[in-house]
This record gives sequence, C-alpha cells and structure tokens, in this order.
Amino acid sequence: MTNRTFTMLKPDSVEKGNVGAILEKINASGFRIVAMKLTQMTRRDAEAFYAIHNERPFFGELVNYMTRGPVVAAILEKDNAVEDFRALIGATNPAEAAEGTIRKLYASSIGENAVHGSDSDENAAIEGAFHFSSREQF
Ligand code: RTP
Ligand code: MG
Repeated sequence: MTNRTFTMLKPDSVEKGNVGAILEKINASGFRIVAMKLTQMTRRDAEAFYAIHNERPFFGELVNYMTRGPVVAAILEKDNAVEDFRALIGATNPAEAAEGTIRKLYASSIGENAVHGSDSDENAAIEGAFHFSSREQF
C-alpha cells in the first residue's frame, strides 16, 4: 500500500552541501516528494519533535545540533514508505550503517547523522503535520 514518511536532511547535510546528492538518492529509490522546504527549528520545536528522548543523556546535544542551522524537511510517498526509508538511511550510528546507505555515505557520527526518518506510520503523520499544513502537501 502506498503510504508516507517524513524526513529531515539535518543541519550537517545542509552545511556540507549534501542536500542535492541525498535528494537524488531518495528519488532514485522510488520516493515521490509530497512536500518539501528549507526551515530552521527553534529550540522549542526541536524539544517537542524529539520529546521521546528528553531523558536521554544526549538530549541537549541533539537539540543544539538540530537547531544550529536550517534543515530540509520533506514528506515522501512510496509503497512501504516508513520501513523502506529507514532501510535507505541505515543505522543511527554511521559506523554500523550498511554500505550504500545515506548515513554510511554522508553521516559523520551517531550524533550528527545527516538525516531523520520516521519510525512508524503514526509518527510519520504526526511529524509531517508538525512541519506542513495540508495546503503544502501535494
Ligand atoms: P532519527 O529519529 O533522527 O531518524 O534517528 P534514529 O531513529 O535513527 O535514532 P533515535 O534513537 O531516534 O535518536 C534520535 C537522534 O538523536 C541523536 N543521537 N545521539 N550521542 C548519541 O548517543 C546519540 N544517540 C542518538 C541522533 O541524531 C539520532 O538520530
Ligand atoms: Mg528516531
């Protein structure tokens, strides 16, 4: 069944000029771009977006990282979108990510790992709505 996932190309991807290469890989892997924009999260946004991790030792670092510059936020559509996109980005830690995955190619560390991918259909819908109104989704 065709469904949707949500992604952010994180600040390190924008800073390093990797946005074009990552989007090309996403397109080549069969995802359709439903919505997309360059946007910078406030601290409040990042704290809300990653609220599930707010007790973790890396939470402060994560919020600093995700707010230090703009991200490319996007909603993507494909059969089995959430699972297939997680496979395309690879493991959280790039040292453990499979060859050819986006994190293997473009992430520098477990903290600065280039890209976000929703982990469930429910979270994909919540995260997409966090960044895009229905008028911005095509
Ligand atoms: P994401 O939510 O961004 O797609 O990443 P994920 O599911 O692969 O990993 P998750 O466990 O949800 O962690 C969210 C983000 O927090 C940062 N992190 N840092 N220093 C650390 O040990 C550590 N662990 C996680 C990463 O930016 C990770 O993507
Ligand atoms: Mg996650």
